Amino acid sequence: SENQKSKIKNQDSNIYNVGIIGAGTMGSGIAQVAATAGCQVKIFDLNADQLENAASALENILSRLVQKSRIDEAEKSRIQGNIQYVNTLEDLSDSDLTIEAIVENLEVKKKVFAQLESLVSEDCIIASNTSSLSITSIAASLEKPERCIGIHFFNPAPLMKLVEIIPAVQTEDHITETCVNTIKNWGKTMAVAKDTPGFIVNRVARPFYSEALRMYEEGMADIPTLDKVVRQMGFRMGPFELMDFIGHDVNYVVTESVFAAFYFDPRYKPSLTQKRLVEAGWLGKKSGRGFYKFENGNKIEPE
Ligand code: NAI
Repeated sequence: SENQKSKIKNQDSNIYNVGIIGAGTMGSGIAQVAATAGCQVKIFDLNADQLENAASALENILSRLVQKSRIDEAEKSRIQGNIQYVNTLEDLSDSDLTIEAIVENLEVKKKVFAQLESLVSEDCIIASNTSSLSITSIAASLEKPERCIGIHFFNPAPLMKLVEIIPAVQTEDHITETCVNTIKNWGKTMAVAKDTPGFIVNRVARPFYSEALRMYEEGMADIPTLDKVVRQMGFRMGPFELMDFIGHDVNYVVTESVFAAFYFDPRYKPSLTQKRLVEAGWLGKKSGRGFYKFENGNKIEPE
């Protein structure tokens, strides 16, 4: 482990102990990425069941990789050995970097950050994985806002290469540099972008969804046709398939938040069609029905 530590340090990053707050979809994926890169990861969640779920989900993912001969048993144990599942925020006190991936709620996040800051060292970098909240307003809740930054992974974190790095207005340049080097060491590509609503990806993606929803509402073509055409243009998924995959609850809230943050610019106006899906609980793949129907996570109709 001293070897690993010096290896990581040689690559211009002082980040060795990583604390993750929230063991849901994103936190558990980020933990896997950091552990694979050789960091010592501690992951905390208020909900003990979530910690257990995260540990067994990782076991499944890594076993599948072993079956496919993508990694060997030793690599699997090394990765698992680099992650500790912990029951208190205090356990993260020796972190060089913490990444928060809890519920998307500014007030809740601010409370957690205030508590976290009282536990970690002066030099610890405090990052958020938020998709849509202002990093600057999160930073403002800290006593040392200059060490706060957005590190925005995409779902699923271990597979998606891109990470957005979002310095707040208050963030010092050396903090951004350390994060850029760390994320590079973790095998990701990144874009550094200013703190604006939706950052790059979630802003540029808004019209992809909303224009498709408008076309459907106008009766221009049916959903499978619209998806097929977009796929044939070279996109991996059509807009409706992608919304079903992301979850309409998550997708709709991001649209609402970007719309409000741009002072209700009609370009970002959310869709009532999508709002009705959320109200019906037709959230997409995860609930078995969205624009499409799903069985065991697979789309069943129409093709
Ligand atoms: P999730 O709901 O899967 O996981 C959130 C976890 O945080 C849960 O396990 C919950 O028990 C835990 N939690 C809630 N409050 C807590 C607290 N006070 N202390 C400790 N743990 C707490 O959520 P998900 O999807 O992983 O999202 C997390 C963050 O990442 C959000 O800010 C979201 O906007 C952002 N994000 C989500 C993406 C996605 O596609 N799901 C993509 C990129 C960012």
